[in-house]
Amino acid sequence: MLPTEQNELITRTGPGTVMGDLIRRFWIPALLSEEIPEPDSPPVQVRILSEQLVAFRDSQGRVGLLDEHCSHRGTSLFYGRNEECGLRCIYHGWKYDVEGNVLDTPAEPPESVIKHKVKHAAYPTHEVAGIIFAYLGPIEKQPVFPAYSWTKLPASHTYITKCFQECNYLQGLEGECDSSHLSFLHREFSQDGEQQLYAYDSAPAYEIEETDFGLRLIATRQAADGKQYVRVSSFTPPVSCWIPARNKEVHTYIPIDDTHSWRWDFGYFPDRPATPADVNRKPEIGPDYRRIRNMANRYLQDREVQRKQTFTGIENFLNHDSCATETMGPRFDRSKEHLGVSDKGVIAVRRYLVDMARAFERGEEPSCLVMDERENDLSHIDTIAEVVPSDVHWREAFPHLTIQSPAKQRDATAATATA
Ligand code: FES
Ligand SMILES: [Fe+2]
Repeated sequence: MLPTEQNELITRTGPGTVMGDLIRRFWIPALLSEEIPEPDSPPVQVRILSEQLVAFRDSQGRVGLLDEHCSHRGTSLFYGRNEECGLRCIYHGWKYDVEGNVLDTPAEPPESVIKHKVKHAAYPTHEVAGIIFAYLGPIEKQPVFPAYSWTKLPASHTYITKCFQECNYLQGLEGECDSSHLSFLHREFSQDGEQQLYAYDSAPAYEIEETDFGLRLIATRQAADGKQYVRVSSFTPPVSCWIPARNKEVHTYIPIDDTHSWRWDFGYFPDRPATPADVNRKPEIGPDYRRIRNMANRYLQDREVQRKQTFTGIENFLNHDSCATETMGPRFDRSKEHLGVSDKGVIAVRRYLVDMARAFERGEEPSCLVMDERENDLSHIDTIAEVVPSDVHWREAFPHLTIQSPAKQRDATAATATA
C-alpha cells in the first residue's frame, strides 16, 4: 500500500502541485503532428496538466502552443483565424504569433502601444517522429531535448498513437512497470510464440537497478529446455516506460487533469521501416482519440471469447490495459491495496517518484534532466525481450545495457586517467 500522503503527492498534477511542477520540467508529448497537419490548418485544443491550451501551425510551418484564452478578454483562441503567421481572436481581432507576441490589436487606435505591453502565455515545442513535444516549465530551466537512440532514426521507422484514458496518469504508468500481468491480462489460450512463454512461468523474478536515466526493470521467467525469458524495461521519469513489445515501444502517460490522461504509444524499429500492421491498435481508436471499446460500453467484453480464447474476452491489449487501470476508479486510493512480490517494479517506480517529488519540494533539481547539449547522450536506454540460456546473466547477454551513458563513462575514464 501507499500511504495517503504519498498517494496525494504523486497523483496530484494541477498548477502549483509538486508533481505537476515536476512534470512541467520535462519535455512531454502535447499533440500529434497530424492534428495540425499543414501551415494555417485549423487550430486544436490541447488539455494537459489541467491547462487549457491551443495549438496551431503558422504560415511558415512553425508550431505555436498558447494559452487558449485570449489575453484581451478571454475568448477561446480555438475559434480564431489562423492567418499570415498568427492566430487571430474572433472577438476583437487581437493576433498572436507562435511565441505569444501580440502582433495586432485592430480594435485599438493606431497610437495604442498595448500590443507591446502584453505577452500571451506560449510554450516552446519540439517536433519529432510525428509528435509535438512541449516544455511547460520555467523558461530559464528549459532542458535540451533528450538525444534518445530513436531521435536519429528516419520517421518511417517510427509510429505513434495516443488515446484518452479515464483515470489518473499513474494507474496507466504503473501497468507499464508490471511484467507479471502479461501472464494474465494479455493471455491468449493459443499458446503461440510469446503466449507460451507467459504461460510457462507466470511469476517472474525481478531485478531493478537505478541508472542515470531512471530505473531499469528486469523480469525473468523460466522457459523450457534450460532457457529463461528475459524482459528488460526502462522507466524514464517522470511518466514513461520503455517496453519490449513486438519491437521497442515507449509508453507515456500525460495527465489531462487528475482523473484523465493521454496514453501515448510510440514505437520504433532500429533496422527497418514500420508497416501499418505494426500499429495494430490504431483501429481501436476513434477520430477523437477515444477508444471505441471503453468503460461506457464495458469494453465490449465477450464472455464466450473469455471462456474459450482469451483471459479477458476483450479485444486488443490497449483495451485490456485500459479495463484494468480505469476500473480501479478515477484516482485510486493506494492505501487500500495489498502488494506482493509481483509488484516489485511498481513499488520501485513509486518510490522513485516519491523521492524525486520530495527532493524537488526541498528545492533540489530533478534528476535525469539533460541541461547541456554536450552531455546529451541517452543512447543506452533500451528495452529487450529475449530467450537466453538459464546460466547466462542478463548483463552478460546484453552488455550494452549500462548504468551510465557511454559518454559519461568515457568522461569518468578520462578523469581517472588524468588524476
Ligand atoms: S477577447 Fe480576444 S480580441 Fe477581444
Ligand atoms: Fe499491459
